[in-house]
Amino acid sequence: MTMLLPSPQSPLQLAVIIPVLNESANIAPLLARLEAALAGIVWEALIVDDDSPDGTGDVTRRLARADPRVRIVQRIGRRGLSSAVIEGMMASAAPLLAVIDGDMQHDEAVLPQMLAALVDDGHDLAVGTRYSDGGSTGDWDASREKMSRFATALSRRLLKAEMSDPMSGFFMVRREAMMAALPNLSSIGFKILMDLVASSPTRLKIAEIPYTFRNRIHGESKFDARVAQEFAILLLEKTFGRFLPVRFLMFAMVGSLGLLVHLAILGGGISAGLAFKLAQTLAVIVAMTGNFFLNNVLTFRDMRLRGGRLWRGLLSFYAVGAIGAVGNVGVGNLVFKMQHVWWLAGLAGVAVGVVWNYAASSLFTWRVRK
Ligand code: GDD
Ligand code: MN
Repeated sequence: MTMLLPSPQSPLQLAVIIPVLNESANIAPLLARLEAALAGIVWEALIVDDDSPDGTGDVTRRLARADPRVRIVQRIGRRGLSSAVIEGMMASAAPLLAVIDGDMQHDEAVLPQMLAALVDDGHDLAVGTRYSDGGSTGDWDASREKMSRFATALSRRLLKAEMSDPMSGFFMVRREAMMAALPNLSSIGFKILMDLVASSPTRLKIAEIPYTFRNRIHGESKFDARVAQEFAILLLEKTFGRFLPVRFLMFAMVGSLGLLVHLAILGGGISAGLAFKLAQTLAVIVAMTGNFFLNNVLTFRDMRLRGGRLWRGLLSFYAVGAIGAVGNVGVGNLVFKMQHVWWLAGLAGVAVGVVWNYAASSLFTWRVRK
């Protein structure tokens, strides 16, 4: 007897990874649509919920008890679309991995086309695209549309990716291609597809499947300033990350800003009649404190200090800075004695100070692991 239709004993073909944050009203209708779209395919769905306050986890568990193809990964105390997708993929053994938004904006009806592109046509990756023939962005407003097109053009240039919609959050990939890219993934922010293509050691064979982006009916978009910021960091990391860690670049940028603040306060204080010593002290305190808070929300945003730890962190940042200043002056002095070029000596001192401050505050103030 030949088996044409897969039975429950047939091997698992496809995992559909669904990252969700406050999508409680969307889970049931989305799963119903998946079930219809994936008839004849052996699939499972992994709903990766970041402990949504709206009870998405409970809704999912209720559905999962009734259908063993439905599984949940609930992460506690963590956020991030890309990392959610990666963890969903790692929680499944399926040879093909699809990613789809949990808000029904992506058209699940094209999933079988994606599967055919991988299985029948030998592509590594099939991308649901809104910008090629037959695709559309639905009723996005002009500014969101413009922003998305700008980001698309930018990433296309930087990543040399031949995709018409590298921002897409809707795609299917072979497990081997995903595993090969895994060690290089940045997994920051929103753009898992771009990250995957940029991090792949080989050139992926990519198919594009057009679809129309639907409007959201339940819940709201999580696209906000934070996402835009994370996107900028991902681009930076993929462009310069090979040479210098992006965290260090950000730390140095915040430091340069602190220098400007310092000079402004010093100059202002002196012209207001303060003694140099007083104006300088004031400038150091304001610049250091400002730098601490900026670093806390930007450079070390993923291990941001809050509450009591914030004030302890500030004190340790002052201490690190004081030692850094001693090192800065010491090294500058040494170089000046050897070379007698004041700006070279100054730069050498600053370089030592920045590297020390970065390393020591990573270790002691924000306690970066790894
Ligand atoms: N687990 C988890 N953690 N899920 C998240 C998080 C998070 O931090 N942030 C967002 N999600 C989920 C949402 O619940 C939704 O299912 C999906 O990720 C997409 O989020 P939306 O907030 O609906 O994004 P969008 O519709 O504005 O953005 C769309 O366009 C982008 C391109 O501009 C999506 O298709 C994105 O994937 C796409 O990159
Ligand atoms: Mn959406």
